[in-house]
Amino acid sequence: MEIFVDSANYKEIETWFRQGVVDGVTTNPSVMLKDGVLDIEAQVRRICALLVDKPLSVEVTTNDREVMLEQARVFARWAPNVVVKIPVINQSGESCLGVIHILRQEGIRINCTAILSFNQAILAAKAGANYVSIFAGRVADEGGDAPALIRSVRSWLDLWQHPSKIIVGSIRSTIDVQSAAMAGGHVITIPPQFFPKMVDHKYSRDTVRGFVADAEKAMEAIEKEMALRSHR
Ligand code: E4P
Repeated sequence: MEIFVDSANYKEIETWFRQGVVDGVTTNPSVMLKDGVLDIEAQVRRICALLVDKPLSVEVTTNDREVMLEQARVFARWAPNVVVKIPVINQSGESCLGVIHILRQEGIRINCTAILSFNQAILAAKAGANYVSIFAGRVADEGGDAPALIRSVRSWLDLWQHPSKIIVGSIRSTIDVQSAAMAGGHVITIPPQFFPKMVDHKYSRDTVRGFVADAEKAMEAIEKEMALRSHR
């Protein structure tokens, strides 16, 4: 299973990338806005250079499918590890699967985003999306069972040996990470504020505190013993 960071904040991405736990990054226009990114191209190029060959998803910013194609081609030229995010439908409910199909034929890697149902996921996979992004938090907002959806899509992909990977996004708490992992998400994209919570545990701190205190006592005892021996 892979872990992506759901962020456009270079410092946050770098912090966790340097710790060896990051396999890629996802962004969207809301994330770019929240993280104060004004020059999208410069930030994408900078993050892509940090990630070397790991993927960075960049989302199109339009409802017009012709403009999506143009934007995707431009984004893909910024760096070889750019993956273009295309929504499964636009805000009018028009299918964007044709956009995915054309871009895949051109060799551009696609993350099909805003997926909230099984049928959307399998159509995105059929259209050739490399990644299908299931929005777990938003599924739950609507009263849906996100882990059940992830499990069903994963079973279908495995049954037909389909190469698309599930990215579970819209993570709202640390337990969502565990649920998504156990449900079979190939990738979980995690907002950076959850990484410190994931790694920390009060009892781990207490445990380490006990070990460090005992190690210090042991060192004192060793030093005393050495001093005694040197006076013998
Ligand atoms: C990631 O690819 C998604 O764009 C993101 O996780 C969506 O999260 P949200 O539902 O919290 O906006």
